[in-house]
Amino acid sequence: MNVPFFRPHITDAEINEVVDTLRSGWLTTGPKTKRFEEEFAQKVGAKHAVALNSCTAALHLALEAVGIQPGELVIVPTFTFAATAEVVRYFDAVPVMVDCRPDTLCIDTQKAGETLEAIRQGQPVAGLKPPYQRVRAIIPVHYAGQMADVDGVRALAEAYDLALIEDAAHCMPAYAKGEGDTWRPCGTTADIVCFSFYANKCITTGEGGMAVTDDEKLADRMRVMSLHGMSKDAWRRFDTKASWYYEIVAPGFKYNLTDIASAIGLHQLARADELWQERRRLAGVYQSAFADEPALWTLTEHDDRQSSWHLFPIGLVPGTLSISRNDFIDALKERGIGCSVHWMPLHLHPYYRQTYGTGPGMFPVAEAAYEGLISLPLFPGMTDDEQQTVIDSVRELVQQHRA
Ligand SMILES: Cc1ncc(COP(=O)(O)O)c(C=O)c1O
Repeated sequence: MNVPFFRPHITDAEINEVVDTLRSGWLTTGPKTKRFEEEFAQKVGAKHAVALNSCTAALHLALEAVGIQPGELVIVPTFTFAATAEVVRYFDAVPVMVDCRPDTLCIDTQKAGETLEAIRQGQPVAGLKPPYQRVRAIIPVHYAGQMADVDGVRALAEAYDLALIEDAAHCMPAYAKGEGDTWRPCGTTADIVCFSFYANKCITTGEGGMAVTDDEKLADRMRVMSLHGMSKDAWRRFDTKASWYYEIVAPGFKYNLTDIASAIGLHQLARADELWQERRRLAGVYQSAFADEPALWTLTEHDDRQSSWHLFPIGLVPGTLSISRNDFIDALKERGIGCSVHWMPLHLHPYYRQTYGTGPGMFPVAEAAYEGLISLPLFPGMTDDEQQTVIDSVRELVQQHRA
């Protein structure tokens, strides 16, 4: 049996809404995108939502909106996808990498605090050349859908006067428990929170993203910059009741989400909890299947967090197996099972090595995790047989290669 790494979960509701959009005569940003924004904001408990064509665009516009300047510093985890740090480079600003926690693989706030303090005192910092400019922002990443220590990050943001932008590409929904024991949805715990609707994300529009915030000024700026820096958006511009007139107030970008994509998003959002419950169930099955296997580790879901379970990574415990991670993945592939690796840490990639002199040994927790990581297939609609095939194959390979 072949088990793909991912299969999108699309129903007739999404298909019919796309057909309706195509027949409506309005394909680009319009009424469905407005509705998608409103319903998304309501779902995550934020005042404003700006629909965009990717999470990368959302992160870019978030940094633009908080006013980042060339040469300024932004704290990011080294353990993340390219997008989190590349958007910093768009401004000729500098990503300052920090190691992650071994249990969640999210940013280690204690280490982030040490880095911020070292910068303040002009002491040496890995991957950073003095003299240091102002640290403008911090971007925690909610790895695999489990929120980072958002209170810890918030405390740092307040202590060092940083904009707090969350990379929530993996979340929808996800929760963290706040003071007073209330579950706070991802979307309410930062200045700006950026979501992804890429094909394999918790909810999808094919490609797409959303930036949410409670701050009207930040929302307005992101909206304007998402469409060429025009003072009015295209929907209002071409609406029969609106004026043709607009002004360019800044050299903006072209990041708007189409109504075709939003048509898919509306129904994915309506089914977000149903899709989430299915992810949680599948994650639970994997967790119990591997719980007593000493050669494998899995992520810990903290009591004060509810993960969206976008990914289910397992790790090969060093010294327990005679097979490398890469060969393990190849062996799974030979059995028809699609896997992936999230991720090689940023500081090991050639661009960051060449630009900032980073390399092996700088962030040991991320490096150790990366060595053994494998993301297993996990998606709503995965059958019990498919999941059992993955579990059996992983177990058999472990048995065959026990050191
Ligand atoms: C952590 C993280 N941030 C950002 C992104 C970028 O998302 P998008 O493809 O919507 O730009 C991804 C994509 O996989 C991601 O994993």
